[in-house]
Amino acid sequence: MNEMTPTREQRTAALEGMGCKRKRVEDIRFTQGKGNYVDDVKLPGMLHGDFVRSPHAHARVKSINPEEALKVPGVLAVITAETLKTVNLAWMPTLAGDVQMVLADGKVLYQNQEVAFVVATDRYAADDGVAKVVVEYDALPVIIDPFTAMAPDAPVLREDLAGKTSGAHGPRKHHNHIFEWTVGDKELTDAAFNKADVTIKELISYHRTHPSPLETCQCVCSFDKIKGELTIWGTFQAPHVIRTVVSLIAKLPEQKIHVISPDIGGGFGNKVGAYPGYICAAVASIVTGKPVKWVEDRIENLTATSFARDYHMTTEIAATKEGRVTGLRVHVLADHGAFDACADPSKWPAGFFNIVTGSYDFPVAHLAVDGVYSNKAPGGVAYRCSFRVTEAAYCIERAMDILAQKLGMDPAELRLKNFVKPEQFPYHSALGWEYDSGDYHTAMHKMMESTDYAALRKEQVEKRAAFKRGETREIMGLGVSFFTEIVGAGPSKNCDILGIAMFDSCEIRMHPTGAGIARMGTKSQGQGHETTWAQIIATEIGIPADNIMVEEGNTDTAPYGLGTYGSRSTPVAGAAIAMAARKIKAKAQMIAAYKLEVHEDDLEWDIDGFRVKGLPEKFMSMKDICWAAYNSVPPGMEPGLEAVSYYDPPNMTYPFGAYLCVMDIDVDTGVYKVRRFYALDDCGTRINPMIIEGQVHGGLTEAFAIAMGQEIRYDETGNVVTGSFMDFFMPTAVETPHWETDFTVTPSPHHPIGAKGVGESPNVGGVPAFSNAVNDAFSFLGSTHIQMPHDYWRNWKAAKALGAVA
Ligand code: CDP
Repeated sequence: MNEMTPTREQRTAALEGMGCKRKRVEDIRFTQGKGNYVDDVKLPGMLHGDFVRSPHAHARVKSINPEEALKVPGVLAVITAETLKTVNLAWMPTLAGDVQMVLADGKVLYQNQEVAFVVATDRYAADDGVAKVVVEYDALPVIIDPFTAMAPDAPVLREDLAGKTSGAHGPRKHHNHIFEWTVGDKELTDAAFNKADVTIKELISYHRTHPSPLETCQCVCSFDKIKGELTIWGTFQAPHVIRTVVSLIAKLPEQKIHVISPDIGGGFGNKVGAYPGYICAAVASIVTGKPVKWVEDRIENLTATSFARDYHMTTEIAATKEGRVTGLRVHVLADHGAFDACADPSKWPAGFFNIVTGSYDFPVAHLAVDGVYSNKAPGGVAYRCSFRVTEAAYCIERAMDILAQKLGMDPAELRLKNFVKPEQFPYHSALGWEYDSGDYHTAMHKMMESTDYAALRKEQVEKRAAFKRGETREIMGLGVSFFTEIVGAGPSKNCDILGIAMFDSCEIRMHPTGAGIARMGTKSQGQGHETTWAQIIATEIGIPADNIMVEEGNTDTAPYGLGTYGSRSTPVAGAAIAMAARKIKAKAQMIAAYKLEVHEDDLEWDIDGFRVKGLPEKFMSMKDICWAAYNSVPPGMEPGLEAVSYYDPPNMTYPFGAYLCVMDIDVDTGVYKVRRFYALDDCGTRINPMIIEGQVHGGLTEAFAIAMGQEIRYDETGNVVTGSFMDFFMPTAVETPHWETDFTVTPSPHHPIGAKGVGESPNVGGVPAFSNAVNDAFSFLGSTHIQMPHDYWRNWKAAKALGAVA
């Protein structure tokens, strides 16, 4: 071999394909302040809008007087529900089949609800105008507790639904009830409980919190009266869906709407839905004929855009005295706020909560979810989670610990005893899912060995004895969590949004010089798609990842897709990318066969090109094939080298992981220290191990925040008391623990490259690990379950209630 001829390893490495820790290409612009975010969009003559918002959580709106506001220099218009009624946009449909006020129509239902939209020549004038709009309210009784909402004499919140005994998801039992959703076999489950040796029952609440991305929700709408075209730059996780929704509700032809999601500073579910700001900015632009920008501030984002969680889960497990689970019964009261604006696939009013059997082989289970209205902001998004999976994982992982405590068993041992076994995959769960692949025992054993779990338990026994002897005021907790996720929404057989199947797409165009551009229906908000999508293509077609430009977020150029949330990008778009690349490769093989003068079947793929079988010197690189595609294709073949794939996945993917949190809590102050946090993730084939590690670090940090203090809390008047970063826990590098990451690889059998999603997993598995650590620490003082979040104050209160503090 010629000394200059690269080795196979060098050729593979040059591609920077799958498995390579390729550096994030997008960071070149992000780290130099050269990102292009919505607020960077500045158009000639652009106006600015800002909202008048309700100080009340529930009140009748008696009058809105814009007179003084219109006198403020620069203020051009004040839009109210009455204005929107003239264009039939005072209310808008939600993704969950409900309707939602765009601007207060007769009544307000939560604090900071949008009441009027002030349009001005700059943001300061708009703010000054907002202060001058006079609104008269008549306060009404407020409901912030979902249990109170269902009381027979509870005030009626949604007067627009008066007399409606059914909604989008079936019958309504009460005037504040939205839906009841049941899954599983009730009779068999009840029978399992009747003959169980041991049962546990606990109300496990997952408090209301908020995704709080660094960049708030915002848009610029520009209507061109001459062309009749509306261009919207926005922080949209799903730009194509936004275009379709705008077309349907504004009655504009879809081809005349251009939606562009530029760089996005974090989404975490917050930027999936449609908000009144988008509608008002669009209407204001149509009315004024000028571009209109709307940018939320932090308080508006936290208090009025989509919240997450607020699930109150009464959970029961039946088991034998040896610790074999025999039944699961869960009833959820789901607080959806003032409107049902949950972002879930249409057929799933409680998302994929029926993954609540977790990683365990429950023979029978039954689940009932009741959705209710309250005087809180609407939403219910999957905050770094796949449609209520994090609630489900928290529910089952807390419940398994409670069962272990009752049985006097080690929580890890109880889990090992009940795991779905490797030979049971594909596994059909009692609540209707088909788990694609898993090897839970290997992952759990690896976690236990890597952390020396047995030694930690021994240390805990010694520390507890020392505490009882009065030698220490610290208690030690071990938080075990083993989660199974369900990501990749989704197969058209069971997932759609507003009737659009949840496929995703990829279009690849190879240029003559062996470079190319690839576009997808997804939209990165920090996940590094520009880096990893190119890596899939590099491995599939043998072109270096550096030569593939990835572009997302422009509905004019990208093929239709359902966007990025719920870790769906890798399972769905990742598969579309591999399939589009394979179409390119198939055409390339025909071109290579023609050029090498052999039959296609005589060629074999070799890293970055095709080689004639048995004649190693007869080789044509993919780069050369790209050139040939533009000048010498076989007779009858169309020139060019491009392909598009719309991928409808046959199933979801089921990533899993084994986590351990080691925590010490000082009972006198409630101050906790996370001594160790170990996270083993299995997301099937790993595209970029460095990006996966980054995703896990980010997800764990959010899990830490949620479990240890982050919440949207209301006082009894419906006032949000955690509406700014002064009160809403946002951990910095100072508070954030050190993360130890690990992995196993169990590929998905149905995904073209065997990959499962990963972005949400650390949040899903992390929250129960933290909460189990706190609960495990307190358990020897006699407690069974302490509700999240576990901040210092609440830890101290728990210690006091358990008699550990005088
Ligand atoms: O939908 P979203 O992008 O939020 O989540 P994801 O599909 O879990 O992907 C998050 C990031 O991790 C992407 O850049 C993926 O390419 C990367 N990833 C990976 O490298 N290998 C996997 N098996 C899964 C995700």
